[in-house]
Amino acid sequence: MSELSGKHIVLGLSGGIACYKSAELCRALVKEGATVQVVMTEAAERFITPVTMQALSNRPVYGSQWDTRPANNMAHINLSREADAIVIAPCSADFMARLAQGRADELLSLLCLARPLGSVPLLLAPAMNREMWSHPATRRNLALVERDGGVLLGVGTGDQACGETGDGRMLEPPELLDEIIAAFQPKVLAGRTVLVTAGPTFEGMDPIRGITNHSSGKMGFAVARAAREAGAEVTLVAGPVALPTPRGVRRIDVLSGLQMLAACEDLAPRADIFVATAAVADWRPAQASAQKIKKDGSGEPPVLRFIENPDILLTLAQGERARSGALFCVGFAAESHDLLAHAQAKRARKGVPLLVGNIGPAAFGRDDNQLLLVDERGARELPRASKLALARQLVAEIASRIPA
Ligand code: C5P
Repeated sequence: MSELSGKHIVLGLSGGIACYKSAELCRALVKEGATVQVVMTEAAERFITPVTMQALSNRPVYGSQWDTRPANNMAHINLSREADAIVIAPCSADFMARLAQGRADELLSLLCLARPLGSVPLLLAPAMNREMWSHPATRRNLALVERDGGVLLGVGTGDQACGETGDGRMLEPPELLDEIIAAFQPKVLAGRTVLVTAGPTFEGMDPIRGITNHSSGKMGFAVARAAREAGAEVTLVAGPVALPTPRGVRRIDVLSGLQMLAACEDLAPRADIFVATAAVADWRPAQASAQKIKKDGSGEPPVLRFIENPDILLTLAQGERARSGALFCVGFAAESHDLLAHAQAKRARKGVPLLVGNIGPAAFGRDDNQLLLVDERGARELPRASKLALARQLVAEIASRIPA
C-alpha cells in the first residue's frame, strides 16, 4: 500500500549523529510513494553526505539560500510552497532554538519560517543528548515552536550515541514513517477516548490446552491505529495475537473472555467510544482442570462441560454510560450469508447504534475486507479495501455520529 502517494515532503536534516537514520527514513518515505526533497544544514553535511541523500531521494539536495539553481533565486519560497509537509529529522537542539526564534540566516530555518502556516505542517523529530533534551532552554524552545504550530512527532528513550541512556533519541525510521502518515489523517477524534477489543480469546481447559478461534485481530488493530491517527487516546484490549502494537496505542493483553470483560469494564467509565471487534469465544470450559488432563489408556475421551461467556459488547451497551449517550458502542458481526438481515438483527439484539457486518471467510486473516455499516437509518456498504483504509472510513463514520 502506498500511504504517501501524491505527497511531497521536504525532509530537513540538521546536525546530529541521528542523520544516519535519515537516510533510511528518506528511503522509507519514497517507498511509501512520497516524493522527497532533502534540505541539509551545514552541520548535517558533517554527519552524512548530500550524495547519499540525493541518491536515495533521486533529487539534488539543497543546502544554501544562495543556491543559484532556482530561476527566481528563491529556494526557500519554492521549497516551502511545493511541500505537503516539512519534516525536520533530526531536529537538533540548536535547530529547535532557531525555529523558536524565527531565524532565517540559513536555508532550512528560512524555509520553515516561509512555510504557509495554514497548509504546510511542520513535523519535528528531535535528536539530542538527554541533558540537552531536558534542559529548560530546550523545553522552552519546544513549547514556543509547538505554540507556533510545529508538531512534535515524539522522541525515543534508550541508549544514546554519547554513551548515556535516556530521552532524546530520534525515533526509528519506521516509527517516524507511521507518525508522518498519521499526521496526514484528519483529526476527527481529537480529545476522544476510544476502547477497542481485538483478536480471539483463549479459554483454558487445563494448563496446556484450551479452545480458541481463528480471529487474526487485524481488523481491530487497524481500528485502533486509525482512531489514534484521528487524534484519539486509544486503548486496545487484545486477545492472544502476534501483531505489533500500533504506534501510540496503549495495549492490554488478555487471554480469556472473562479477562477481556474485566479490562473493558475497568476502562469503559473513561471511554467515549467502544468498538468491539474481538471474536470472544461463546463458551468456556465450566471447570478448568488445575493439572493437565491425561490420557488414561482406557480409550475414553474426557467429557467437557461448557458455560456461556458474558457478552462484553452487550454488557457495556447496557451500562449507564452507553444508555446516557456518553459511550458510543460499535459492534461487529462476522457472518457467512444474509449479511444485512443478520447485521440488523444483531444490532437490535445488542442495542448498539452502529453495527458493522462482514463476511467471515472473506475477512479472516486477510489484509483486506469489505464492510456493511448498519444503523437506524439503514445500511451502507464500504467496498473492498485494506483493513486500514476501511478502519479510517469507519472512524470517520463514528466521528460523524457522536455529539460534538
Ligand atoms: O454475538 P456475536 O458474537 O455474533 O456478536 C459479535 C459482536 O459482539 C462483536 O462486536 C463482538 O466483539 C461482540 N461480542 C462480545 N462478547 C461476546 C461475544 C461477542 O463483545 N462474548
